[in-house]
Amino acid sequence: MILYFSGTGNSKYVAEYLQDKLQDDIVDMGDCIKQNVLIRSQNKRPLIIVCPVYVSAPPTIVMDFLKKSKFEGSKQAYFIMTCAGGMGASPYYCREICKEKGFEYMGCEQIEMPQNYLVFFKTKEKDECEKIIEEAIPKMEQIADAILRELPIALEPPGKGDILSTQMVLKPYYKYFIKADKFMVSDACIQCGKCVKACPLNNIQIQDGKVEWADHCTHCMACINCCPKQAIEYGKQSVGKPRYMAPKYKKS
Ligand SMILES: Cc1cc2nc3c(=O)[nH]c(=O)nc-3n(C[C@H](O)[C@H](O)[C@H](O)COP(=O)(O)O)c2cc1C
Ligand code: SF4
Ligand code: SF4
Repeated sequence: MILYFSGTGNSKYVAEYLQDKLQDDIVDMGDCIKQNVLIRSQNKRPLIIVCPVYVSAPPTIVMDFLKKSKFEGSKQAYFIMTCAGGMGASPYYCREICKEKGFEYMGCEQIEMPQNYLVFFKTKEKDECEKIIEEAIPKMEQIADAILRELPIALEPPGKGDILSTQMVLKPYYKYFIKADKFMVSDACIQCGKCVKACPLNNIQIQDGKVEWADHCTHCMACINCCPKQAIEYGKQSVGKPRYMAPKYKKS
């Protein structure tokens, strides 16, 4: 079973690529989280988790979802992390969850995709993003091939320094930086509801004709990037930066 979480579509793209090659079931964790349902799966094929890197680790929302779900058929788990530079300590957390859930750890591999974290980093123009995705395809192919042959992918643990620095930063980062209170909407908003639909945490509502954010955001960046009118800003940090949504994967 391929289980993915994706804010702006990079991980969805990779998950759909793998689904096309592996012909396995595919489930969107974001949909499950939005509908408040967990997974109870009897699928005997390996579990393949595809998600973005958040602060050198898998998103806590993904880890919490995996902890609570039940995978009664799968014995092995692969982790594919999409990132904009490096997955940092992610393999450490993936190995830990495998221990907790009783999976054989089959490795954690990163795929570099376009940056989506426009509130803290610079996003790239469309043509550069297309090039990054094109260059990532051979790695997706290698991973699909290894999984098809039931071989492990990257098994090396991250450096101790990476693990320690991530452990130190992660909790304070989520506590002090991952918030929705800087999101604001301009008069360009046409109340189309796309941001509401895109939020995997049901954190956005339109009330009295105005888009409003509640307080359980995970900074997936779907809302600000998907708005067709670029009506959403995150304080001044996002002003003038290109918005990014991954293209849809087209089946081969
Ligand atoms: C909250 C947050 C934290 C991020 N942290 C990292 C990081 O530590 N390293 C990195 O290379 N990319 C980081 N990124 C970039 C994303 O991992 C990358 O763009 C990813 O492919 C987005 O996947 P998605 O489109 O499936 O949501 C971060 C993005 C967000 C939103
Ligand atoms: S996606 Fe943009 S235009 Fe549509 S409701 Fe949200 S803020 Fe308004
Ligand atoms: S409010 Fe926006 S950034 Fe926060 S979780 Fe929802 S879609 Fe993602």
